[in-house]
Amino acid sequence: MLKKVVLLAMGGVFATSVAAQSELFKADDLVKYRQSIYQVMGAQAKVMGAMVKGEIDFDGEALHQRALNMGNVGKLLGETYVPATEGVADSNMLPAAWEDMDGFSAKGKAFGSALQELIAVSGEPGFDEAQARAAVGKVMKGCKACHDDYRD
Ligand code: HEC
Repeated sequence: MLKKVVLLAMGGVFATSVAAQSELFKADDLVKYRQSIYQVMGAQAKVMGAMVKGEIDFDGEALHQRALNMGNVGKLLGETYVPATEGVADSNMLPAAWEDMDGFSAKGKAFGSALQELIAVSGEPGFDEAQARAAVGKVMKGCKACHDDYRD
């Protein structure tokens, strides 16, 4: 269930009802909304990253919660990718993303499945640091892969 939602939203595909709802927002506000979601995701990533690097104590349950937080806000991203936001000066989304929505969506989906794997493995009993390092690393690669191509 969550997987489907995350994948859909990360892929930038949204249902008609959501498209109608996103028309309630001004383009400028949608960009702020999008950037705020990414800020929340960034904060979760920071804590997870510090744990797997040993900068703070490893806590599997806390890491699982961070992964869930990321999924919960991440699924809202889809409704912010409204074409009208392309002209917003404060947006750091590159024109390449709008020109290549399939490529952008593919990065979103790859990220979404890495996150889904992290959510699953971190919820298992016995989840340990080695598993965390691998699964968090994959999620972080997903962030970077999209930023490299589609973010200023
Ligand atoms: C599918 C593409 C994609 C993925 C995956 C992705 N990002 Fe981004 N990210 C973007 C784009 C595009 C922007 C610029 C948004 C804008 O300014 O309109 C952005 C912006 C950001 C910002 C800056 C927000 C601001 O205040 O301007 C942060 C922080 C960020 N991302 C963190 C992350 C983290 C952490 C991950 C992974 C956990 C991640 N992103 C995954 C595309 C992506």
